[in-house]
Amino acid sequence: MSNRDVRQSDVIRASEMLGKKLGKSQMSQYVSGKTIPRRDVAELLARILEVDVTWLLAGDADQGEASSPRNDSKPEPHPSAQIARSTTMRTFSKSTKLDNVLYDVRGPVVDEAARMEDEGERILKLNIGNPAPFGFRTPDEVIKDMRQQLPDCEGYSNSRGLFSARKAIMQYSQIKGLPNVQMEHIYTGNGVSELIQLSMNALLDNGDEILIPSPDYPLWTACATLAGGHPVHYLCDEQADWYPDLEDMESKITSATKALVIINPNNPTGSVYPREVLEGIVEIARRHQLMIFADEIYDRLCMDGYEHVSIASLAPDLPCVTFSGLSKSHMIAGYRIGWMVLSGNQRCMSDFIMGINMLSNMRLCSNVPAQSIVQTALGGHQSVNDYIRPGGRVYEQRNFVYEALNKIDGISVVKPRAAFYIFPKMDVKKFNITDDEQFALDLLHEKKILITRGGGFNWAEPDHFRIVYLPRMEVLKESLEDLADFFDHYRQS
Ligand SMILES: Cc1ncc(COP(=O)(O)O)c(C=O)c1O
Repeated sequence: MSNRDVRQSDVIRASEMLGKKLGKSQMSQYVSGKTIPRRDVAELLARILEVDVTWLLAGDADQGEASSPRNDSKPEPHPSAQIARSTTMRTFSKSTKLDNVLYDVRGPVVDEAARMEDEGERILKLNIGNPAPFGFRTPDEVIKDMRQQLPDCEGYSNSRGLFSARKAIMQYSQIKGLPNVQMEHIYTGNGVSELIQLSMNALLDNGDEILIPSPDYPLWTACATLAGGHPVHYLCDEQADWYPDLEDMESKITSATKALVIINPNNPTGSVYPREVLEGIVEIARRHQLMIFADEIYDRLCMDGYEHVSIASLAPDLPCVTFSGLSKSHMIAGYRIGWMVLSGNQRCMSDFIMGINMLSNMRLCSNVPAQSIVQTALGGHQSVNDYIRPGGRVYEQRNFVYEALNKIDGISVVKPRAAFYIFPKMDVKKFNITDDEQFALDLLHEKKILITRGGGFNWAEPDHFRIVYLPRMEVLKESLEDLADFFDHYRQS
């Protein structure tokens, strides 16, 4: 009874309600074990206490095993009693593996925006690179072909993916000059996201270091951390069009460094790396025997005549993993299809490949209907080109946002050359900004504009934020006017 926090008076009251009067002394006798209740009384008490009657009669419900005079073979309490006994349910905490994991693109400021929306506020969302909700349409042919193939996509596919999808990815890789690619080293995934996680799990042991850019697309840092690895951030240099700072990169290599990651074209900066920079990175990887991971999901969204060069094409002697997909180029982020291609020196990564195969098999396969349209999507007319040339929505919106931001006193920005993100710098002295999350919240509360703070991209200073310039021009104009107005008076307190 004491374990359940039930007093004798409670039992007396309950039994009275059930039609049986029990005296106080009678109860004390039962509790002390001096008297054993009659069968009918015992049944009543067992019902009230939610315990098994045989257990109640065989032992002493209130005393520990050692002190019980009659409990040599006391049976286990009835399971329902165990549940009833605990007065408060234990709490379930998230795994400590998540302690250092950050994914602010959908973080606390977004939660606050959702709360405000629930209260009926209209929020201008400049925070997520999801083209479809902003009116970017999937090419009709892609949808038509998926519809037609749907009846054939009911079963699991080969865990790496359908032959037709991998063949198309193979041909695409050949066009991009990736050396030594074999069909069995091409893997489709539920977006690049799944494959980032899979490859980090396959590679990293606890404490292994991996070089990741700052700013980064934060999933890389998050997945490396979750896999037990230790992400080490190298700087991308705003003064040099946000290209990786090779000196900084090399200075951060230790004996524990296994690999380096580049995101090219880059999210959040929109930078496209020239061949010389890529060659410099390859040299570093070669000198220090590092694996190269290249996230190239925006490779078909380069503007202003910038040519995308796959770093793997420059590193035939090194182990390289190149990632791409259709979420951005074909506006089908919701279909979930991405891929990863292992190229270059296969021999030195044979054991890693076994790990990749194991993890790929464990998740059975990626979304088969989405795989079925890879061939259609990668071949023929690329409708994305209409968006990124002069007159196209992405191109014109980029120009507008870039110019409007540069006109704001205290804001400066490097022109993005690809993707649909821009990463402006704030004069923290002028605005007295010490906390970029507070800045994001202040902007949200005052202007109902949702952006992502620079810290969300593992950028150490509180002086940047990212805008996604996918919304239509009218919305962008309104947002940029509001932003200018905000920075006109903002001082963080
Ligand atoms: C650089 C980068 N890599 C990967 C992804 C994830 O793409 P997917 O939709 O293929 O999972 C994103 C999404 O925004 C991204 O920006």
